[in-house]
Amino acid sequence: MPGIVIVGAQWGDEGKGKATDLIGSKMDYVARFNGGNNAGHTVVVGDQTYALHLLPSGIIHPDLTPVIGNGVVIDPEALLSEIDGLQERGVDCSRLRISEAAHIIAPFHRTLDRVSERFLGSHKIGTTGRGIGPTYVDKVNRVGIRVHDLFNEAHLRDKVQASLHQKNLMLEKIYDLPAVDVGETVDELLKAAERIRPYVANTSLLLNQALDSGKSVLFEGGQATMLDVDHGTYPFVTSSNCTAGGACTGTGVGPTKIDRVIGVAKAYVTRVGEGPFPTELNDDSGEWLRQQGHEFGVTTGRPRRCGWFDSLVSRYATQVNGLTDIVLTKLDVLTGLETIPVCVAYDVKLADGSTARVEHMPTDQAEFVSARPVYREFPGWSEDISGARSFEEFPDKAKDYVHRLEDLSGCRISAIGSGAGRDQIVSLRSLVD
Ligand code: GDP
Ligand code: IMO
Ligand code: MG
Repeated sequence: MPGIVIVGAQWGDEGKGKATDLIGSKMDYVARFNGGNNAGHTVVVGDQTYALHLLPSGIIHPDLTPVIGNGVVIDPEALLSEIDGLQERGVDCSRLRISEAAHIIAPFHRTLDRVSERFLGSHKIGTTGRGIGPTYVDKVNRVGIRVHDLFNEAHLRDKVQASLHQKNLMLEKIYDLPAVDVGETVDELLKAAERIRPYVANTSLLLNQALDSGKSVLFEGGQATMLDVDHGTYPFVTSSNCTAGGACTGTGVGPTKIDRVIGVAKAYVTRVGEGPFPTELNDDSGEWLRQQGHEFGVTTGRPRRCGWFDSLVSRYATQVNGLTDIVLTKLDVLTGLETIPVCVAYDVKLADGSTARVEHMPTDQAEFVSARPVYREFPGWSEDISGARSFEEFPDKAKDYVHRLEDLSGCRISAIGSGAGRDQIVSLRSLVD
């Protein structure tokens, strides 16, 4: 049985939760490998809506084992309140396994996230304010606190002290804020430790043993390709590797164990937070997409910026993730449009002041910021597709739109979302065999 990776192919909120749920019933394990509670993954089952932030979306399937890998950053308070919220709704979380090596978001990381955004002023990223960036900074700076540190008080105190030493100088001298108390931080973290302990495991060993014995593992990405710290629209990105390679480093499973990489893309594009977005619509069309698609953030409630499908982004996602399949979501949202523009190239300004037409994602962010979309118009459809259960039931123009996106993205589209509900998905081929 396979190792399958799910990643966002755009700027997040593509419907990874729904795609994970679709495959989850056939999986033995579902592992998150990056990010933290900056994510908001929605699964709609009948009249029940679940918004998962830190826990893998697969947790609502009763028979699989949910895993939080070492690449994830964990806010203990957020973790426990998410577990409590789900258990109250009858979702059993007892099989959850959390990596000993995952890093901990302490309260001071959240403070630093907000303060540094304030000080960035017009350069701010528009983060979720969950402390994600400062926690990854500590990880790379080698002053992070890991899950296993929570179970040795003396050790934890030493780690918190080391982490706060420089930060307290910064808080007091640069940000004019009070220093953070080491003892209070340690007490806060220890409060959560005993409740977290039963879930903690060597998850790299667990997942490798599972794959070696023929079990299936789904690696569920948070955020998305264009928010990846290496491959995204830097610096307007998150602080982790959200692309497929992150599934390996973020769980301790080698690339030879991955059989399939599924990218989730909306039939249009949205973005939350700051940063360039070539196909963004700051007009009635953008507002129409926002209302039709209910484009408001699951984590922060912020209105999402909306724009037309960008095939340079999807082609790039195919490239940097090695996508084998795309799950195209929210096709139903486009119903009623006479024609649908799709971006097929950018006109960019080069450093020498000249303009060039490009069909591949520029790496130079100055070029990307200058990108003006070149559109091709495809015919729209007016028939309601929300009840379609097979591709044949789609109107011809919807089928054509899907085929054009497939050609432009350089990857086959293997499932299409026709509504938010669990059964509102049309499969063109199995995603797990
Ligand atoms: P994620 O972060 O990638 O898991 O995506 P989010 O959950 O943040 O946002 C996706 C939103 O679209 C959620 O409200 C989903 O319930 C909804 N959704 C997913 N697929 C479809 C679809 O095919 N059609 C419609 N109308 N809504 C969908
Ligand atoms: P899911 O998994 C959309 C964005 C934030 C901000 C940038 C950095 O639901 O697709 P951070 O708090 O991570 O330091 O913020 O990344 N962002 C997301 N946008 N979906 C997400 O997650 C996101 N997680 C972070 O808005 O622009
Ligand atoms: Mg989301």
